Amino acid sequence: MAMMRSDLGIMKILHLKKRGCFLLKLLCLVVLVLIFCEFLVYYVVIFQCHWPEVKIEAHRSSKQSSASVLKAMFLSDTHLLGEIKGHWLDKLRREWQMERAFQTALSLLEPDIVFILGDVFDEGKWSSSQAWADDVRRFQKMFRHPVRTELMVVVGNHDIGFHYEMTTYKLKRFAKVFNFTSGKLITRKGVNFVMVNSVALDGDGCAVCSRAEAKLMKLSHKLNCSQQQEQNHSNKRCSGVEQLPASEPILLQHYPLYRRSDAECTGEDSALPEEKNIPFKEKYDVLSREASQKLLWWFHPRLILSGHTHSACEVLHNGKIPEISVPSFSWRNRNNPSFIMHLVAWGKETQISLLFGLHSLVHRQQHQVPSQSMAA
Ligand SMILES: *[C@@H]1O[C@H](CO)[C@@H](O)[C@H](O)[C@H]1NC(C)=O
Ligand SMILES: *[C@@H]1O[C@H](CO)[C@@H](O)[C@H](O)[C@H]1NC(C)=O
Ligand SMILES: *[C@@H]1O[C@H](CO)[C@@H](O)[C@H](O)[C@H]1NC(C)=O
Ligand SMILES: [Zn+2]
Repeated sequence: MAMMRSDLGIMKILHLKKRGCFLLKLLCLVVLVLIFCEFLVYYVVIFQCHWPEVKIEAHRSSKQSSASVLKAMFLSDTHLLGEIKGHWLDKLRREWQMERAFQTALSLLEPDIVFILGDVFDEGKWSSSQAWADDVRRFQKMFRHPVRTELMVVVGNHDIGFHYEMTTYKLKRFAKVFNFTSGKLITRKGVNFVMVNSVALDGDGCAVCSRAEAKLMKLSHKLNCSQQQEQNHSNKRCSGVEQLPASEPILLQHYPLYRRSDAECTGEDSALPEEKNIPFKEKYDVLSREASQKLLWWFHPRLILSGHTHSACEVLHNGKIPEISVPSFSWRNRNNPSFIMHLVAWGKETQISLLFGLHSLVHRQQHQVPSQSMAA
């Protein structure tokens, strides 16, 4: 009897061991899958993205090599969830995804500069100062970056509210974090970027609006003077104005320029078929016709990049000025969040937009932006 009992005991232990082993293997598998899906997959996908090759034939002799090419990355509508409408789990999930995607892109692609085209936060338009501080802290953690990479942020309607709910207080607290209020011109490697506060372009003369318009006029004047000085036209009104590279600027803004709808947008990252034909409302979905025309007159941009619609689109204004709407970077807003990689060089530009998502694991699209003569 005693022997039998010990035999039984041994069998029981063996059985338990087997089961434990199985559970251990299962656990390992789960952990490996988690590590892959939550960490490695970002490397696998983004590793397949490459900066487009730019041929700078005309300048090859004059030492215009890779040093004069700016690697710029554009993303938009990150919509970090706030405390009022955001569920903590949703928040955790989306922020982890964006953090991993951004950090992986930084380490693999090493851009010189990253622009976020507005709607960084979801609830900046109504958050309390405490909630705002918390959102900002999380943003700074997610989008931390080495000193060699610059991060520039344009204001969006969710950051300070639509025109009617926008206040100086909200704009000021945004400016304190991102050093951006009415407009800004930055020049990197011979490329002029004009960052526009498109929320303030309602044209009704509100205090914030008039400041924004005045600022844009000033920037336009500065750019005009640079182009005239390049051609040796002396102009009294230009004396004392800082000389910039005489190239047409790239406009960066949250609202797209006026377009009727997304009906003519194509590509996997464009709006869903059932949404494409919904007409856009001026000053709400897109800028008003008047404000759009003003921007084109003032700046004659070589390219416009905008956000807000959460979907991608490429349109041509006046038959020659391309605009690209950058889709949302948050997986919450679309199933294939993406960003745009753009090489800007003197006289020529190419760019690739990339998508990454589990459904369309890798999808690449190459566009050729018509190159425009930059030197006047
Ligand atoms: C803020 O932006 C302005 C240009 O508009 C620049 O001159 C200034 O140095 C920036 N300040 C900081 C703290 O980065
Ligand atoms: C700059 O030049 C353009 C084109 O000539 C013009 O439309 C615009 O009004 C000028 N800007 C200013 C501030 O005068
Ligand atoms: C402008 O003047 C400078 C020197 O004064 C000269 O080197 C340059 O070639 C001139 N440019 C044009 C377009 O005339
Ligand atoms: Zn928006």
